[in-house]
Amino acid sequence: MSEVVLRGSALRHSYGIQEVLRGVDVEVRAGEVVALMGPSGSGKSTLLHLLAGLLRPDAGEVELRGERIDHLSEGERSRTRLEHLGFVFQFGDLVPELTVVENVELPLRLLGRRRGAARRAATELLDLLGIADLADRRLHEVSGGESQRAAVARALVHSPAAVLADEPTGALDTITGERVLEALVAAARHTGAAVLLVTHELTVASWAGRDVQLRDGTIRDPSAATVRRLP
Ligand SMILES: Nc1ncnc2c1ncn2[C@@H]1O[C@H](COP(=O)(O)OP(=O)(O)OP(=O)(O)O)[C@@H](O)[C@H]1O
Ligand SMILES: [Mg+2]
Repeated sequence: MSEVVLRGSALRHSYGIQEVLRGVDVEVRAGEVVALMGPSGSGKSTLLHLLAGLLRPDAGEVELRGERIDHLSEGERSRTRLEHLGFVFQFGDLVPELTVVENVELPLRLLGRRRGAARRAATELLDLLGIADLADRRLHEVSGGESQRAAVARALVHSPAAVLADEPTGALDTITGERVLEALVAAARHTGAAVLLVTHELTVASWAGRDVQLRDGTIRDPSAATVRRLP
């Protein structure tokens, strides 16, 4: 089996007195696409934020390529994220003032890559996702599905080890959503990224290699090293 790229072990997280995650084990291997499913409010976004180092767990560990990231400082975690992770947010977070291609090349520019090289990499990915002709449009001049594709391109442009996608097709109709997902999976195969994808849709989950279910604050992931049980 290929190497584990991202692993969460015994993760716990509460907001105030609300205990959202009560011992979650999950792992994603290189080249794998895993669908994360579960009811609204079950903690899927919270789990993705923990795995990306955007939030710190109350207990448990997050490992990226075998190294713990949960106990790193804020600055170290954001550097790790920039270098090794791609994130597609549930409610989108592209920069409206920038064009499509400027949004996509942004991670490379932040990593200090030269303008020409960044532009070439961004353009290649836009091409792969079928929106190369929209490169110079501003975000308000493209459709919801097109802007989701741009978000997918931005998450993949620096060839991250893992991509975390939080319901990237939630606001789209089924057909458009499936196309975006298909493009995400194809692009991830192209870059070799491990993908963890939140979705409510069974049709979307069918694009994934396997799915894991988050319920009652826990995941029963049969492929994870340890499967926690509720007390
Ligand atoms: N910043 C926060 N402060 C307090 N409570 C929060 C916060 N973020 C999320 N929650 C609560 O934690 C629970 C899990 O939220 P989360 O966003 O992780 O769920 P989700 O599974 O992603 O839901 P959805 O499918 O609707 O996106 C919810 O009850 C939510 O209200
Ligand atoms: Mg969510």
